[in-house]
Amino acid sequence: MRLLPVIFTVSLTLSVAYYVYIPLPDDIQEPWKLMMLDAGFRTTMNLASLMDWLGFDHYISSIRQSTEGFEGMVKGMGSSETDGAVMPGVKISDITFNGVPVRVYEPPAGGEGHLRRGVMYFHGGGWALGSGKKGSYDTINRMMSDELNAVVVSVEYRLYPEVHFPVPYLDCLAAAKHFLSKEVLTRYAIDPERVAVSGDSAGGNLAAAVSQEISTDDTMSVKFSVQALIYPVLQALDFNTPSYLQNEYIPILYRTVMVRFWLQYLGADLSLLPQLMANNHSSLQHSNITPELRARVDWTVLLHPKYKKNYKHVVVGKGSKGTVKEMPGVLDVRSSPLLAGPEVLAKCPRAYILTCEHDVLRDDGLMYARRLQEAGVTVNSHHYENGFHGCFSFIVWPLDFDVGRRSVRGYIDWLKNNL
Ligand SMILES: *[C@@H]1O[C@H](CO)[C@@H](O)[C@H](O)[C@H]1NC(C)=O
Repeated sequence: MRLLPVIFTVSLTLSVAYYVYIPLPDDIQEPWKLMMLDAGFRTTMNLASLMDWLGFDHYISSIRQSTEGFEGMVKGMGSSETDGAVMPGVKISDITFNGVPVRVYEPPAGGEGHLRRGVMYFHGGGWALGSGKKGSYDTINRMMSDELNAVVVSVEYRLYPEVHFPVPYLDCLAAAKHFLSKEVLTRYAIDPERVAVSGDSAGGNLAAAVSQEISTDDTMSVKFSVQALIYPVLQALDFNTPSYLQNEYIPILYRTVMVRFWLQYLGADLSLLPQLMANNHSSLQHSNITPELRARVDWTVLLHPKYKKNYKHVVVGKGSKGTVKEMPGVLDVRSSPLLAGPEVLAKCPRAYILTCEHDVLRDDGLMYARRLQEAGVTVNSHHYENGFHGCFSFIVWPLDFDVGRRSVRGYIDWLKNNL
């Protein structure tokens, strides 16, 4: 009679273990924690797809609700590092810059008469998720404001599915131009020679794109002094780079998820996903993708041999016709900063580029670092061997990772020394 509960418990345990367990590379630290996090994400995604399929809600809305629910729960558990508990001296205002909602963090008073640094930050989340006001973004912005004596401006650009490219980019650009205006710099007592633009993942994409536009705009008298890009998304022509293939199933950014974020951002039909995975969208029959453009994303030339390993360059001769026409944004430097020419890159500010070994976007970042350097820009590349995509956002208990804390510390220290 006692056998049944035992069998039940054992099978339940095995099913949960089977669901949670995924093979991870040996040098990923705290693998069990990453597996739990991944299981949480997978469950959220699957439930969201189910709700969408049943016609209840757009799956992006469901994902947003679950993340908010989770954050609420964490706060309820008495996490010591949220909201006002961190850097209580930092002053917060939720206002608009050129009509775009922003959160401004002002450092504690003191040192009157001295100009302060400025940092504009674009959060990540695949151009569809996230908010600079929530979770670790808010914590990091408070830390930056306090430690760097900086006025930090976090931009709440609009997201998919409400909008798609180029709206998020244009929101960020409008906020950036306002930030760099004499009037705003004076109002906040910011040194015009010490203003950074920064962001992670999709936010790194926006930061790189905005930085290029401002750098080449002769009407802007004040420009960004540095750009700090954290595992940025930079191109959509090649989804078969060594890092896309090596890290295809590494949490939390699976290859299919990143390709899907791109389709959403470019306002393209999601059914194109298999074509993009096969690089059919950038086949040689598309004459508007010139050899010159291809060379700008050619990892066989731009990557160090240690990253190339035995991966093959996937160049399709005859792919599907028309995919590029269905998403013209794919060749636009405002969506794909890696496609910019050397004359544009040469004008860009000094760069900090953070990459993680276990990240599909590793090679986007490495190739951009190389191309900026070749254009004569000073680049500091920080590569985290134990890093995975998203680690920068995991610094708050219970979702904290050692590599997350190290990456945030390295980033703030770099700004301290270079901004
Ligand atoms: C890519 O294009 C080729 C040639 O048109 C086609 O045979 C193949 O099925 C396509 N691959 C995918 C995944 O759609």
